[in-house]
Amino acid sequence: MAATTVLGIESSCDETSAAVVRLEGDVPRVLSCVTAGQDALHETYRGVVPEIASRAHLESILPVVRRALAESETPLGSLDGVAAGHRPGLIGSLLVGTSLAKSLAWARGLPFVGVDHVVAHLTATLLDRATVAWPAIGLVASGGHTSLFLMRDPLTLELLGATIDDAAGEAFDKAAAILGLGYPGGARVDHAAESGNAECLDLPISRLKGLDFSFSGVKTALALAARVDPSPHSREDLAAAFRRAVIGQITRNLAVAIETHSAPTCLIGGGVAANRLLRSDAAALCERHGCELRIAEPRWCTDNAAMIAGLGAIRIARGERDPWDLAPQPMSAIARGARGPKRAAL
Ligand code: KG4
Ligand code: ZN
Repeated sequence: MAATTVLGIESSCDETSAAVVRLEGDVPRVLSCVTAGQDALHETYRGVVPEIASRAHLESILPVVRRALAESETPLGSLDGVAAGHRPGLIGSLLVGTSLAKSLAWARGLPFVGVDHVVAHLTATLLDRATVAWPAIGLVASGGHTSLFLMRDPLTLELLGATIDDAAGEAFDKAAAILGLGYPGGARVDHAAESGNAECLDLPISRLKGLDFSFSGVKTALALAARVDPSPHSREDLAAAFRRAVIGQITRNLAVAIETHSAPTCLIGGGVAANRLLRSDAAALCERHGCELRIAEPRWCTDNAAMIAGLGAIRIARGERDPWDLAPQPMSAIARGARGPKRAAL
């Protein structure tokens, strides 16, 4: 079986990551993945500062790429191509990874492709695993996006619904700030919720027409509940009630999408896919619907280059290439806006 080996580079936000993935048949196998985080640099500001992020990417990108190549024992000359996440993200950060990927590809005479980071979060569910049955319902719940897709294959997606305000991860981060749990917040709210009583408070769950999401109302409701002094609820109880409301909205839409499209497979990726309640509720829901759940392994939920290399390898194996003047873009072309069929990565 002919294999396609690709170096992938991720630098869309605050993780500098490089990975080597070998596509064997339609299974992307991860040979290496090296990621340098920047949490300590942004903690004081309780959010990612774009200028600080770009500079930190510049400092760490070459060592990270060198280590990923060394750990996979793949010399540059044995690669079949180079991929970078070229959208969506912080423009200065995207420029660092995209420029390096193009330079390496050009210098070595290799194909270059840019891939959509949101779509790559769904490729993360396919890494190192046997083939899935299509079509699939794909959910990306991350810091920047909450989008639901009907997928005919890894590259052909139709947007079914998306958030009309905050993304789920963004709402978790703001909840962490409201509850004084610090930054980055999603995992901390999840952890606090484990020992809380979700029944203590009935936070509102937005019910929009169709399959769109809205998380700003539940965030405001939490802020108002947390302001009551003295509070009748512990921080853990509030975290649990919040988590239940956010995950409840996600799983409700997921169930409708699976039923409507009779999909045999459900793929879930993005930082929020690490959430314990989402993982257990999605597993129960898929079991009820006779649908196979592929939720990204926790290490591939948050930003990483393995998913970028995986999606890049799928495109390169099909003979696709992007031009050298492909520009980074702040927005995804697929995860927001018009609902309907679209081709994923350009
Ligand atoms: O996918 P990701 O690394 O970055 C984006 O593409 O946005 O997602 C990061 C987001 C953050 O908002 C973080 O708070 C959230 O994922 N997150 C979680 C959990 N772990 C990370 N949210 C809820 N529960 C978690 N366990
Ligand atoms: Zn992401």
